[in-house]
Amino acid sequence: MAGLDVIAEIKSDHARVRDILLDLIDAISKRDAERALEILIRLDKLTGPHFRWEEESFYPAHEKIFGRQYLEYLLGVHDRIVKRGKELAAILSKGEITEEEAKVLPEIIRNEVLPHPIECDGITLLTTKLPKEELEKMAVELERCRKEGIPLLEWGETIKDKVRAERGFKAKTLC
Ligand SMILES: [Fe+2]
Repeated sequence: MAGLDVIAEIKSDHARVRDILLDLIDAISKRDAERALEILIRLDKLTGPHFRWEEESFYPAHEKIFGRQYLEYLLGVHDRIVKRGKELAAILSKGEITEEEAKVLPEIIRNEVLPHPIECDGITLLTTKLPKEELEKMAVELERCRKEGIPLLEWGETIKDKVRAERGFKAKTLC
């Protein structure tokens, strides 16, 4: 049995993601491409294992409460964030941020990325209704995903769709 407190761990991840996203908005608004790219790389490393665990363990464990339709909506949100992450990486890799990008990109982050940690943190309201054994299983899975440490964009390209296909999950298209 793993010693991880799953609810505390996921909440602490979400708080870190919140801080990183706010830093990213700040760096982009100030047109600091170098700092923004560094922040995006940190976010990629933190959210890779987190998203993977959500799809392989956390969301399926809650399906009996919130249902298949909501699970597939959450997968669609993940797809949208992976897509935005790829677009952001391409833009920031150019080494400069235009005046237009400094206005548009923070709004994309605020409207399409930031709401996810807020919503996902809210799911923990349901986690407390799950049996203890389910929480223990999720803790083991979280340790596994963290240990493998696959960053978000790499996970999006190599693992995400394969695991979804194996489990018969279909994302609701939101992009
Ligand atoms: Fe999350």
